[in-house]
Amino acid sequence: MIRVLPNPESLARAAAEIFVTRARHAVEASGRFAVVLSGGKTPRRAYELLSRPLFTGRVPWDDVHVFWGDERYVPPDDPQSNARMAREALLDHVSIPQVQVHPIDCSLPPRDAAARYEALLREFFAGQEPAMDLVFLGLGENGHTASLFPGSPVLEEKDRWVAEVYVAESNKYRLTMTAPFINQAAMIIFLVSGTSKAAILRDAIQGDKRAPPLPVHLIRPVRGEAVWLVDSKAAAFLSLTP
Ligand code: 6PG
Repeated sequence: MIRVLPNPESLARAAAEIFVTRARHAVEASGRFAVVLSGGKTPRRAYELLSRPLFTGRVPWDDVHVFWGDERYVPPDDPQSNARMAREALLDHVSIPQVQVHPIDCSLPPRDAAARYEALLREFFAGQEPAMDLVFLGLGENGHTASLFPGSPVLEEKDRWVAEVYVAESNKYRLTMTAPFINQAAMIIFLVSGTSKAAILRDAIQGDKRAPPLPVHLIRPVRGEAVWLVDSKAAAFLSLTP
C-alpha cells in the first residue's frame, strides 16, 4: 500500500498516528509493543511528534520496547548514532522504562556487536514467533534500506537476524537487522520524503521488473503488511491510479 501525504510534516504526523494505533493494538493483544526504529533524517520529525502532548499521552510507554533496525558503528554519543537521534527526538522525553530501550552495543567488535544484538532479540522472542509489531524503514538513494547496502554479502544472509556490514565508500562498519528477520514483522512502514528520493522510490515500487533487484526489494513481509508513507515530492515519478 502507498499513502501519499502532502508534505513532510503530514508524513511525520501519519507515521506518529500509526505508531500510536499499532502500540495500543499490540499492548491490548499481547501486553507489549515491540517497535524497530529507523535511522537517518526522515523519521526524526515523527519521533519528535511522538514526544508531544498530541501523541505521547496515547502511547502505553510502560509496555513499549524499542529496538533499532540498524546502527552506524560509532559511540552512542556520536552525532551519527541512530540511537542518539532517537533519544534526542523522543526517548529522553517520554516515560519509557530505560530497560525497554535496546540500542545496539557498538563498543564490541562489529561481528560481536551483531551477535550480541541477535542474542538479545532471540531472548526477547524466546519461544515465540520473532515478529516485531512495527518496523520503520527508510530508503536510500541507492536503494538500500536499514543497512542493507547494494553489493553487500548481508543481502544473501538467510539465517542471521543481525549482521555487521562493511560500507566501503565510507570505510565504516554498520550493524543491521537482516531481511529475513525484518520480514517477520507484523507491519513495516517505509518513510520516504523529498525530491531526491523520487527516482529511487519509482524504481523501488514501480521499476522495470527486468532491472537488477534493489536491496529494498528483499523486504517482503512473510505474514504482515508493508506500507509506503511518502510525501508528494518523493511520489513525483509514481504513476498512481486515482
Ligand atoms: C540509516 C538508515 C538508513 C536510512 C536511509 C534514508 O542508518 O541511515 O537506517 O537506511 O533510512 O539511508 O536516510 P534519510 O532518511 O536520511 O534519507
